[in-house]
Amino acid sequence: MTQLRVTVDEVAYQDDVEPRLLLVHYLRDRLGKVGTVVGCDTSNCGACTVLLNGRSVKSCSMSCHSGPGTSVITTIEGLATENGGLHPVQQAFHDEHALQCGFCTPGMIMAACDLLGENPGPIRRRRFERESKGTSAGVPGIRTSSERCQSAARTMADSQSRLRR
Ligand code: FES
Repeated sequence: MTQLRVTVDEVAYQDDVEPRLLLVHYLRDRLGKVGTVVGCDTSNCGACTVLLNGRSVKSCSMSCHSGPGTSVITTIEGLATENGGLHPVQQAFHDEHALQCGFCTPGMIMAACDLLGENPGPIRRRRFERESKGTSAGVPGIRTSSERCQSAARTMADSQSRLRR
């Protein structure tokens, strides 16, 4: 066992864990963050995507020990605003029904948050599709997802909302 110190969705945790415990299993099994899902378990689908220190990562392909110091992780559950409202990206996906079966949607939203955090403002569809590779880009919903990403970008620009929490 090794000691893990991590902040998840703005709550600090200190846990003894197996050194090779995968981040997705820590989030789901220890913390109950079941919005982070396992789709392929082979680092292909992106359904397990979370933000690690503000950047999107596939939590099924990395140890929960992501390096020295305390890591800051944001899951889909942690995106909501302080008053409980949806994050602009969540709202845009919801408003415009950007999903196929919905299973991969949390990962798409987390990837979109990273993309929009790095590139505020409108994003061309081709760029969204290129940069969303590895987050279920093969499913038909990706087209509508890119349009929702545009909508979220507009919403965030209008409201000057924080891109990352
Ligand atoms: S479950 Fe992690 S990439 Fe598919």
